[in-house]
Amino acid sequence: MLDLFPDDEKDDHKPTISEEELSDQEVLIELQNLKTQLSDKVVVLGHHYQQDDVISFADITGDSLQLARIASELTDKEFIIFCGVHFMAETADMLTGPHQKVILPDLRAGCSMADMARSSEIEKAWRFISSSTKDKVVPVTYINCAATLKAFVGEHGGSICTSSNAEKVIRWALDQGEKLLFFPDQHLGRNTCFKMGIPLEEMVVYNPNKLNGGLSAQDISKAKVILWYGFCSVHQGFSLDQVNAIKENDPNMTVIVHPECNFEVTQAADDYGSTSYIIDKISKAAPGSKFAIGTEINLVNRLAREFPDKTIVSLSPYQCLCTTMYRIRPRWLLASFRAIRDYKPINIISVPDDIARSSLKALDRMLAVK
Ligand code: 13P
Ligand code: SF4
Repeated sequence: MLDLFPDDEKDDHKPTISEEELSDQEVLIELQNLKTQLSDKVVVLGHHYQQDDVISFADITGDSLQLARIASELTDKEFIIFCGVHFMAETADMLTGPHQKVILPDLRAGCSMADMARSSEIEKAWRFISSSTKDKVVPVTYINCAATLKAFVGEHGGSICTSSNAEKVIRWALDQGEKLLFFPDQHLGRNTCFKMGIPLEEMVVYNPNKLNGGLSAQDISKAKVILWYGFCSVHQGFSLDQVNAIKENDPNMTVIVHPECNFEVTQAADDYGSTSYIIDKISKAAPGSKFAIGTEINLVNRLAREFPDKTIVSLSPYQCLCTTMYRIRPRWLLASFRAIRDYKPINIISVPDDIARSSLKALDRMLAVK
């Protein structure tokens, strides 16, 4: 198996079940047994970017919005093992009841984009933006962020969106006020607002590493949309040159990318949408169709295997792996199952009550947007 983590990093986080104790094959066998044994109280959710041997143990797979909705409906399960990243498990924790526990098999599975906006930075930006305009500014956060940011938008009349409902949520936000503050992903914000007819000239980027975000009060008062300077390093790797190269090589290739890709890539692509949108498009396409996909490689490779009658390749010649998603391994999943069996659950994700209460205001607004 591809080894992406240096040894010193591994030393701090030894899997509870070492390779000396169980081989990879033995891990899979024990996992299957424990999953069957504990099926009354444990459910496994898997995001589409998880690797195949993790997905094979997921009871339900989905994109961020689907998994959030599903988590809120699984009231009869005591344990929800979330094979995804930290912000997804936090969201699930806030949407589940006090009798339930959400477990992230490896606590190091974060999201680099979510780390690009911190509460203190958002508070600072908010003060500057509010003092620069009399217009009502509505904050919307992409679900890829810490619970404290969800709480911020909850307390400031805003909402949360995912890649599959961003347009609806932004439309809702712009019905509530004149301006939008969108964080942390500038690309999802820009791509969606442009699609809704807002010209690029009405969007500015707030860079938290610069004084006042690198903006003047006049920039803020003129803008309709203020985008946070955040991005996904996996999706930012896709380029216009790659789209052009694919099209030059085979004009019959349909290019579909995730909206976390940059503006020129989404504009040059034939289509873009969330992970479940991409899956849906491919599954409904006629046999013989050809696709180049701009998203995480585990999903692209799985689609290629699931639809052998279609040509499905990655848009990029390089490995576009989400290394944080990739931290969830069967070995860690087994450790989570064993701990539940032994009545000593580990890696429980628990959002403090006050933060959860404020975040839920925003999550409820998101889930209510039709
Ligand atoms: P989806 O909601 O489209 O699954 O995207 C989640 C994500 O993190 C993409 O990088
Ligand atoms: Fe975060 Fe990008 Fe990984 Fe999605 S693909 S979880 S945005 S780092």
